[in-house]
Amino acid sequence: MATAQKEAFIIEGLAGEKKLSGTVRIHGAKNAALKAIAASVLFAGPVRLENVPKTADIETLSKILRKLGAKVEWKKGGTGKDAVDLLEIDTTTMNSIEIDAELAGSMRASVVLTGPMLARFGKVTFPAPGGCVIGTRPIDLFLSGYEKMGAMAVLDEAACVHRIEAYKNAKGTGTGKGLLAGTEIFFNKVSVGGTETLMMAAVLAEGTTVLKNCAMEPEIVNVAEWLIACGAKITGVGTPVITIEGTGGELLKPTHFYTTIPDRIETGSFLILGALLARDLTIENCRPDHVESVVSLLTEAGVPIKIGASTITISGNTAANSSFKTIADLRTHEYPGFPTDLQPVIVAYLTQVTGESKIFETIYEGRFKYVEDLKKLGASITIMNPREIEVKGPTPLRHLPGEGDLTAYDIRAGFAVVMAALSGSGTFKVINIHLIDRGYEKLEAQLSSLGAQIKRVVV
Ligand code: UD1
Repeated sequence: MATAQKEAFIIEGLAGEKKLSGTVRIHGAKNAALKAIAASVLFAGPVRLENVPKTADIETLSKILRKLGAKVEWKKGGTGKDAVDLLEIDTTTMNSIEIDAELAGSMRASVVLTGPMLARFGKVTFPAPGGCVIGTRPIDLFLSGYEKMGAMAVLDEAACVHRIEAYKNAKGTGTGKGLLAGTEIFFNKVSVGGTETLMMAAVLAEGTTVLKNCAMEPEIVNVAEWLIACGAKITGVGTPVITIEGTGGELLKPTHFYTTIPDRIETGSFLILGALLARDLTIENCRPDHVESVVSLLTEAGVPIKIGASTITISGNTAANSSFKTIADLRTHEYPGFPTDLQPVIVAYLTQVTGESKIFETIYEGRFKYVEDLKKLGASITIMNPREIEVKGPTPLRHLPGEGDLTAYDIRAGFAVVMAALSGSGTFKVINIHLIDRGYEKLEAQLSSLGAQIKRVVV
C-alpha cells in the first residue's frame, strides 16, 4: 500500500500583535454531515447532501460506504455562480454488512453507521474500537441500546469485531423478523453519537422508541429535521426526550435534499483566534445562536463582538490581549454549554490574558496532551489531574531552537497549537497536520486570506 506523504505547517508568528483582518466563510459542519452520510442507509434511492465540507473524515466515511457497495459521488448542482458541490449517495446497491476495520479504526464516528445498517439489514459487523482492548473508546451505550431493541451483540474476539443481529436477543424479546423493536432507552451518559445512532436505528424499527437523557447538539437536530421531511416520525429532537415511531422496515423516500448546518466548532475556533490575533474579522455563513457559550465568554472578557443574522464580527479589536478578563472557572459541557472541542483552543487563548484560569474537562479524561506543546512555547500551565488544568497568563510564546516541532495530537488540539504558533515570536513547524485536515478544510488557505504567514510543506 502506498504511504501518504507527511505534511507540516510552517508558521511565522505575529509576536502577540493583532495583525490579521478579513473575512472567513464557515464550512458545513462535518459532525452533522457525517451523520447524514450514515443516515443515507435509511433511504430507498439516492439522496443528495448539500454544503458538505471536504474534510478527510467525510472522505473516510464515504470510502467505508463504497466498500459496503454504496455509490458515493461528488456532483455539481446548479449552474454558473450558483453551482454547488453535492454529495450524492445511493445505498440501494449495498451488498455487505461488514464495516471495514482499517477505515473504521481511523474514525470513531464510523460507529454511527451501525444504527442505520442494523435497522435496515438486520445485521452489522463492526470492528471493536481500539482493537480488542476493552475499555478504550467505549461503545457500551450503542450495544446496550441495540440489546434493548431486541438485538444480540456478540464480541468475536478472534476476529476482533462485534457481530450484531436484530433477529432475537438472549432474552428472546427480538421481533424475530430482522427488525429492531421499539422500546424505552435511558442513556446513563449523555452521548451525541449514542443519541444520533439509536434515533436513526429506531426510524425503521417496529413500534415506538423513547430515548431519554439525549444529547441536544444542533447537529442531531439538523439530521433529524431532514429525516422528518422525508417521512420519519421523530418528535422532541433538541430536547432530552426523543420519541420515534418506527416505520416497521419501510425505507424513507428521498423527497428532500439535506443541507448541512454551518460548523459551530469552526466558527468558535475562528472567534477565539480572532479575539487574539485579528484587529477586524468577519465570520460569515455561520449560526451565531449555536456559539452563544463562546460569544458570551469572549464578550465578557472585553472582545468587541457584533452579532448579525448569519455573521459574527470582531471590529476595532485594538486593546492588548493582556487587558482581556480571564475566565476564573471554565467547565466544558454538553450543548448549549462550552464545547469540549473548543477546550484546547480556549486554553491557548488563556495563555495570553492576564490572570489565572481553571479549566475542568467534563466530557473526556486526558484531553490535555497538547499542553506539553504549549509549555514548550513558554506557557504556564499546570495539569492538576486528568480532567483539570490551571493556566496563568500572560506568557509570551516563542520558539526556542532545539525545542523541536509542535504536534497536532487531534483535530482541535491541532488548531490550538497553530493558533499558539501564530501568536508567538519566531518560525514554527506543526507536524501531524493530517489530523487537522480531518476537521478543517484548507485551514492554511483561510488563515492566509486573513494575512497569516502559513504554508503547507512535505516533510
Ligand atoms: C461527538 C463529536 C466530538 C465531540 C463529542 C462531544 C462527532 C463525530 N464527534 O463525539 O467531536 O467531542 O461529540 O461533544 O460528532 N461514551 C461512553 N459510551 C459510549 C459512547 C460514549 O462512555 O457508548 C462517552 C465518551 O467516551 C465520552 C462521552 O461519552 O466521554 C461523550 O461522548 P459522545 O457524546 O458520545 O461523543 P461522540 O459522539 O463520539
